[in-house]
Amino acid sequence: MRIRKAVITAAGWGTRFLPVTKSQPKEMLPLVNKPLIQYSVEEAIACGVELIVIVTSLGKRAIEDYFDRSFELEQVLMQKGETELAEKIRRLSNMVDITYVRQKEQLGLGHAVLSTRKIIGDEPFILLLPDDLFEQGEMVLKNMVNICEQYEGSVIAVKQVTEREISRYGIVDPRKKADRVYQVLDMVEKPRPEDAPSDLAVMGRYVLMPDIFQILTETLPGRGGEIQLTDGLKQLARKNAVYAYEFEGERYDAGTPFGWLQTTMALALRDPCLGPELRRYLDKLLPTTTYQ
Ligand code: UTP
Repeated sequence: MRIRKAVITAAGWGTRFLPVTKSQPKEMLPLVNKPLIQYSVEEAIACGVELIVIVTSLGKRAIEDYFDRSFELEQVLMQKGETELAEKIRRLSNMVDITYVRQKEQLGLGHAVLSTRKIIGDEPFILLLPDDLFEQGEMVLKNMVNICEQYEGSVIAVKQVTEREISRYGIVDPRKKADRVYQVLDMVEKPRPEDAPSDLAVMGRYVLMPDIFQILTETLPGRGGEIQLTDGLKQLARKNAVYAYEFEGERYDAGTPFGWLQTTMALALRDPCLGPELRRYLDKLLPTTTYQ
């Protein structure tokens, strides 16, 4: 099965990053050497999608400008002899076709996905939540596409979490189908550990069949008054089969200040240019730092 389109949702308020996100999209926060959203864009491209649909909202224009062409900047860089940098900047606008859908009211992730219906049409698509970064992102998505093809159903990425973390995630009720593949019998949003059907938590990568759209039109606002994707997926799991893929490798949540810091550190420490120097810096810093 060829998946041609991917959706990246970037319309949320980013309240956990306020006040920074008052005037700057969370998705444009730098993670080492590029903005958060670029990781998702590159991951989708690596999976061979032809079109990326980014759902934005008021105040997110910086995302559009970032992936747009800036002749003026390129020219200035060329005049300064910065040919390589100019080329790097130009490449950003040529990576893939990107189209933008404006979510006029932030009515929830399910609503954001639904707003892409006319562009996606009647075909399966990839959904990426840019806050979530996967160590083996390309591999995870490719495996999910294969599972979608083999089982002819939507696929969600899941990861085992600790008991303490359970109440922060959507948790699936799984029935094992194959190594790392489960059928989803039900889903519970942010349950107490004693009520959770398993310890497999939903993470921000999905391969969705287009029938999710009709279900989302019928999904009523749930937790927080928002139209929740999880509620839609629960319905989908009852009608058609939904599968979960327990991916391998680390996943980082850059959607909170501490998570963003952890992700930045993890990525920078793994970077061959920055890593060794950062490690030396931390070795020097740690023994001498006290709380203020
Ligand atoms: P979050 O729950 O992380 O919300 O959304 P948020 O607004 O990004 O951040 P906080 O919680 O206020 O700090 C999960 C994903 O759903 C998108 C977000 O952009 C993010 O990718 N989303 C959420 C929308 O696109 N629209 C919405 O109405 C809500």
